[in-house]
Amino acid sequence: MALPVATFLFYLTSLPFLVFSKSTIEPCSVSDSCNALLGYTLYTELKVSEVAALFQADPIAILTANAIDIYIPDVENRILPAGLFLKVPTLCSCADGIRKSISTRYKTRPSDTLASIADSVYAGLASADQIREANSIDDPSALEVGQTLVIPLPCTCFNSTDNFLPAIYLSYVVQSGDTVPAVAAQYSTTVTDIMNVNAMGSPVIKAGDILAIPLPACASNFPRYATDFGLTVANGTYSMTASHCVQCSCGPGNLNLYCTASSLAVSCSSMQCRGSNLMLGNVTSQATSAGCNVTSCSYGGFVNGTILTELSMSLQPQCPGPHQFPLLVPPPTFVSHESALGPSPSPVPSQPGGTIPTPGSSIPGTSIFPGSSPANGPAGSTSQASPLHLLSHLIHAILFWLISKFLL
Ligand SMILES: *[C@@H]1O[C@H](CO)[C@@H](O)[C@H](O)[C@H]1NC(C)=O
Ligand SMILES: *[C@@H]1O[C@H](CO)[C@@H](O)[C@H](O)[C@H]1NC(C)=O
Ligand SMILES: *[C@@H]1O[C@H](CO)[C@@H](O)[C@H](O)[C@H]1NC(C)=O
Ligand SMILES: *[C@@H]1O[C@H](CO)[C@@H](O)[C@H](O)[C@H]1NC(C)=O
Ligand SMILES: *[C@@H]1O[C@H](CO)[C@@H](O)[C@H](O)[C@H]1NC(C)=O
Repeated sequence: MALPVATFLFYLTSLPFLVFSKSTIEPCSVSDSCNALLGYTLYTELKVSEVAALFQADPIAILTANAIDIYIPDVENRILPAGLFLKVPTLCSCADGIRKSISTRYKTRPSDTLASIADSVYAGLASADQIREANSIDDPSALEVGQTLVIPLPCTCFNSTDNFLPAIYLSYVVQSGDTVPAVAAQYSTTVTDIMNVNAMGSPVIKAGDILAIPLPACASNFPRYATDFGLTVANGTYSMTASHCVQCSCGPGNLNLYCTASSLAVSCSSMQCRGSNLMLGNVTSQATSAGCNVTSCSYGGFVNGTILTELSMSLQPQCPGPHQFPLLVPPPTFVSHESALGPSPSPVPSQPGGTIPTPGSSIPGTSIFPGSSPANGPAGSTSQASPLHLLSHLIHAILFWLISKFLL
């Protein structure tokens, strides 16, 4: 099995067109999809709602994926600075046998060219050739103003795992000056892991390449018929689901998805766990001689407009403390010089502390926010690439570096 794959890789990488940008391709066959993230650098000042419109994404989803506080007034009209790096959530589908995000449409404006749309507006996430092919454009110079273009965007699923742990994949456009060790440190992963995931023979990247970066995440196990089946939330971030009724978060203390009522939506179905007086996210504990008797009311998915809840009891060695939420930051107003040059996975807080994500947690003592900034500080990941891991990547999704033009 491994031999033909290796031969194929060698053949492709020995072709002379490596001067073009490379991106990681994940073949797929079934028509499933997964949550993925697009690493997007703003080409100009844009409102939150304008960024969302570029990707036909929910503004709230973009904010929560970046741990930006959504409960400040008029947050969708906040202006974000040019050069800001954001993680934009997208649905990663399977189309033409490879993973890509195909839900984005762009309406052309005066003076747009395919190259300016690809390189500037979408910050290198798509190439002019890919846009041309996706829209069967014969003559790129005859672009009409107001024409709607499909913008195919790169994404990967890899079973939403990395080293057998839940992960969500970020499509990262390499900036000039980036090195694999620096990118690995920025995202608390290892050079080996990035090389394995992207099937790289050597840790060499250049500006414009697109890397798949695994981010540790909290997985859900909602039933397949739930509309939010497969929900995966990156460590340190939030996600709104169930028509904005439910807010889920991941980390920082552990990678168990934690969901509670949000106060964004006005009409929501019941969030009380049947047979108890506990609401979604409530945890009660009682110390007993055998250990701590923990009862929790957790979220089980959104089905037919109904919020599924699950009451679970467990005996744990110690009673859990108050739930810790990921730190929230206000909408960034500037981009620091460092983060403009290098990858910046999360916006830099422009004022200390975070605000409180739910009305429930505003009760003093029911939640703790880490006081320090979550930014930077590589956690010194111990993730090691085993031959088995490498093999699993090769087998379950044959990856290769290739100019995107030929496959996307
Ligand atoms: C996919 O992930 C699930 C858990 O999310 C795991 O049980 C399964 O073994 C994985 N499949 C492969 C092929 O890695
Ligand atoms: C999750 O993020 C927190 C801080 O944001 C970090 O301390 C922790 O190590 C991360 N967990 C994993 C598994 O990466
Ligand atoms: C644990 O708590 C639940 C609910 O409070 C109760 O029904 C159950 O009997 C308790 N179990 C033990 C072992 O104390
Ligand atoms: C959702 O509702 C439809 C029609 O009301 C019903 O046929 C279907 O079985 C429901 N699905 C689930 C998972 O309950
Ligand atoms: C249960 O959750 C509700 C809503 O999130 C919150 O208002 C309430 O304070 C919580 N109760 C307990 C005992 O934690």
